Amino acid sequence: MNTPQPSELAYVPFVSVANMMRLVHSLGVDRFLSDLAAYIEEDFKRWPEFDKTPRVASHSLEGVIELMPTADAELYGFKYVNGHPKNMKEGFQTVTAFGVLSSVSNGYPVLLTEMTLLTALRTAATSALVGRYLAPKGASVMAMIGNGAQCEFQALAFRALCGITRLRLYDIDPAATAKAKRNLEGQGFDVMACSSAQEAVEGADVITTCTADKQCATILTDNMVGRGQHINAIGGDCPGKTELHKDILTRAQIFVEYPEQTRIEGEIQQLAADHPVTELWQVMRGEVPGRTDANQLTLFDSVGFAIEDFSALRFVRDKVAGTAFSEPLDLLADPDDPRDLFGMLTRAG
Ligand SMILES: NC(=O)c1ccc[n+]([C@@H]2O[C@H](COP(=O)([O-])OP(=O)(O)OC[C@H]3O[C@@H](n4cnc5c(N)ncnc54)[C@H](O)[C@@H]3O)[C@@H](O)[C@H]2O)c1
Repeated sequence: MNTPQPSELAYVPFVSVANMMRLVHSLGVDRFLSDLAAYIEEDFKRWPEFDKTPRVASHSLEGVIELMPTADAELYGFKYVNGHPKNMKEGFQTVTAFGVLSSVSNGYPVLLTEMTLLTALRTAATSALVGRYLAPKGASVMAMIGNGAQCEFQALAFRALCGITRLRLYDIDPAATAKAKRNLEGQGFDVMACSSAQEAVEGADVITTCTADKQCATILTDNMVGRGQHINAIGGDCPGKTELHKDILTRAQIFVEYPEQTRIEGEIQQLAADHPVTELWQVMRGEVPGRTDANQLTLFDSVGFAIEDFSALRFVRDKVAGTAFSEPLDLLADPDDPRDLFGMLTRAG
């Protein structure tokens, strides 16, 4: 076999899981989350510049596999992501992901990266960024219902961006709460393990729901939620997969990423298609208000939108440039004569 060496154009920078972990540690997780949130905010503020579409979802009885594309005039990005709530019990992650950033001008990928860790980081950075606009002033206590893979990332982002220092944890599986308590105490949080969701939300300024269930669940009912709190609901993100009782939705001021996708996947799938919602990009641009008074119940009906992944890809591309945190991957066939792809194949025989 006489395989020629790949040319410069064949290589795409690839960020492995090991390198993503090194990158996060080199920056520090707090700085990573804050800097990433700044990229997300920057992209939300230029929302009209993006091609937008609800993600392309392939559903099965067990879960969903999704493609999440978006582009501006210079860059195209997509993420492959799955959601399989049953996975955890079988020793697999509920959510895994990888993504690509490409040049719009010639279609060549400029980055291929793991995005399982990056999705947890970008979801948390987005939640906390939104929390900065919507959480009550001086918020310091957060209830976290669902203590799985996303939980610690959410807590760290809310501390870095919103000043949350005290956590009240609840999960139907006490082992998940014990894991999260151990990890989060190790990060300097004041953590209380609770024996019910009702107990967890007592005295909380912010309530984060990050459970995984394939069906409509009722993690929070209206009587559990007071006035003036902010709910960060990230677990309801598929048709037929919600976390909040409808009565909470009719009382709350609801904020969303991209209504066309959230009406399919978010908590608001329970409401009429014309129920009023506020788009976060407009809040971030100062075009419409966020929280308007201390007694208002605000809800971020998070489903995760492609622009957040685009921002995360852009962020990682910038951070790994000129470092050893990426490796060149021989991804693109590059014949000497662009039309002689077959000749390149036969010469390698
Ligand atoms: N909005 C977004 O952008 C976004 C991004 C990533 C993940 N998610 C979603 O967030 C959720 C959590 O993801 P994960 O990776 O942490 O999953 P995970 O499986 O690791 O953890 C989920 C936890 O929820 C717990 N749980 C299930 N039902 C519960 C209930 N009724 N009350 C309390 N706890 C309950 C489980 O015991 C488990 O510990 C998933 O639904 C996922 O699809 C959303």
